[in-house]
Amino acid sequence: MSDEKQQVSRRQFLNYTLTGVGGFMAAGLLISPVRMAIDPVLKSTEGGDMANVGLAVDDITSDPQRIDWTIDQVDGWYESEVNRSAWVYRNDNDEIVAFSPVCKHLGCVVSWEGNDSYPNEFFCPCHNGRYYKDGRNVPGTPPLQPLDVYEQEVRDGMLFLGEAKPYGEA
Ligand code: FES
Repeated sequence: MSDEKQQVSRRQFLNYTLTGVGGFMAAGLLISPVRMAIDPVLKSTEGGDMANVGLAVDDITSDPQRIDWTIDQVDGWYESEVNRSAWVYRNDNDEIVAFSPVCKHLGCVVSWEGNDSYPNEFFCPCHNGRYYKDGRNVPGTPPLQPLDVYEQEVRDGMLFLGEAKPYGEA
């Protein structure tokens, strides 16, 4: 009788042990995919989408200067570094302006005074696209819209830029 009790007790012990180990393994298998699925949500977004572009506002003059920086882009589970550029200057009202260099015609890169025939303008070499200093497209040239404008912020004397938005929306 006591042997029988002991056997049952061993069986129970084995059952509990196997159930416990099995449950632990099942939980491990379930937690990994769930963690991966919500991983982008758990990532810190410290600083929002604005990036320190490494330019002190005291160094911004009325002459457009090109600045380049990189951002970490997370697309689902894929992380990559993306290069960004802007033309930055102070306008006549002493406001900081940051234009995207991407031409609104077919996406080439514009440069400030890129053609000697058109001083004081942004110039796109692909199809002779032109923009005034304030970013508006010169009528009669291929681009049909002004340059996009970056969202901007000044923190501790440094320029932070966000997304480039259509002219008038940044
Ligand atoms: S891409 Fe700039 S003018 Fe065509």
